[in-house]
Amino acid sequence: MPDRFDLPAGFRWGAATAAYQIEGAVHEDGRGPSVWDTFCAQPGAVRDGHTGAVACDHYHRYPEDIALMKGLGLDGYRFSIAWPRVLPTGAGPVNPAGLAFYDRLVDALLEAGIAPLPTLFHWDLPQALEDEGGWLNRDTAYRFAEYAAVVADRLGDRVPAWITLNEPFVHTVFGYALGTHAPGRTLMFEALPAAHHQLLAHGLAASLLHERGLEVMLSNNLTPVEPASDSAADAAAAEAYDALHNRLFTDPVLLGRYPDLTALGVPDDIFGAIRPGDVDLIHAPGLDGLGLNFYNPTRVAAPSSPDLPFDLVPVPDVPHTAFGWPVVPESLTRLLLGLRDFYGKALPPVTITENGCSVEESTDPDRPRIDYLATHLDALAAAVAEGIDVRGYYTWSLLDNFEWAEGYHQRFGLVHVDFATQRRTPKASYAWYRDLIAAHRASRPR
Ligand code: FCB
Repeated sequence: MPDRFDLPAGFRWGAATAAYQIEGAVHEDGRGPSVWDTFCAQPGAVRDGHTGAVACDHYHRYPEDIALMKGLGLDGYRFSIAWPRVLPTGAGPVNPAGLAFYDRLVDALLEAGIAPLPTLFHWDLPQALEDEGGWLNRDTAYRFAEYAAVVADRLGDRVPAWITLNEPFVHTVFGYALGTHAPGRTLMFEALPAAHHQLLAHGLAASLLHERGLEVMLSNNLTPVEPASDSAADAAAAEAYDALHNRLFTDPVLLGRYPDLTALGVPDDIFGAIRPGDVDLIHAPGLDGLGLNFYNPTRVAAPSSPDLPFDLVPVPDVPHTAFGWPVVPESLTRLLLGLRDFYGKALPPVTITENGCSVEESTDPDRPRIDYLATHLDALAAAVAEGIDVRGYYTWSLLDNFEWAEGYHQRFGLVHVDFATQRRTPKASYAWYRDLIAAHRASRPR
């Protein structure tokens, strides 16, 4: 059996974070409010009323955090740029102090020998744009493209590869359909115009980035969908869920068409959101790499009530993370082989842009995380051995951080953060990952 030491020479080892989850400093240097500042202020929206106002204070402590990355021996670091730092109202005048922060961050990373991999949108939409309808408003896609150009013009001389969006599925469904994330809208399937407008934003920005000679990726949260039984009803429900979670976000980009969403009761034009030429704008720029955020498979059964066309059911007989997510490493191999079967030559090289798990703070010596990472990297190596082109792996996450609606309760970091003192303490998984990177590099000289 191939394992993680068989990953190819030149494979990129990385770690990932996102702006609102680590930066803090929400009122500093002219940053405008984002939908997450607003959401966190709503009573009951986030567990225990936690907010990202301070988070890991990375805005001030980034040199210490880069030293931690250097200690790991990382090739690359995936972070996100806060749109409301750069353009406090989402459009209009640029805030030089906000842009200067990312300039310093990029320079410090390069000095440490770590390649920066920025994501332009990891869910912190400027509140001023939300006031105009957020991602339900088509104009937001055009504002995003303008913002992408501003940032690329400033950093593109040092940053060759970019991720446009993080997980449009999760942002659409949690943020606009179910309301458990910012902006807290509960539109159910009528949220889907927000998905189309994010994909349009991706396409418009990808063209501008390509014009500047930069590479473009899109990071999706993909999940292999398993029917709960052999019954035709469960298979149909699984197919409907797969279309919603996976294909809605990859088919237009890779194939230039949307999947059939009629089983979800969604019209072909996604409630009038799709205009002539849109799908071409999304598809034509092409993708230089598919960013894959992988956490778990999803098991689906026929609906038990008329509210939804599927039921999400527990995956039986497997361990679960502290978050309650099922741990099934071989489902990552299955997902990757399935993507190749389905997309064929249209599948670009893949980079794992997130993978990791939350572990209880008291767990010593962080064994569940080490096991999770080791088994998923082995599963990745199995897919690579079958011929899937995987270029790198960015574990989620470098630091314990603000885990959205869960506040500081889910700890995904290789590094423990004491949120009262901001003290960073590397966990056993940090040493394990450092040693793995060193051993892999030594065994596979470039
Ligand atoms: C992903 C998000 C990331 C983090 C992990 C645990 O869905 O992209 O910000 O919260 O889950």
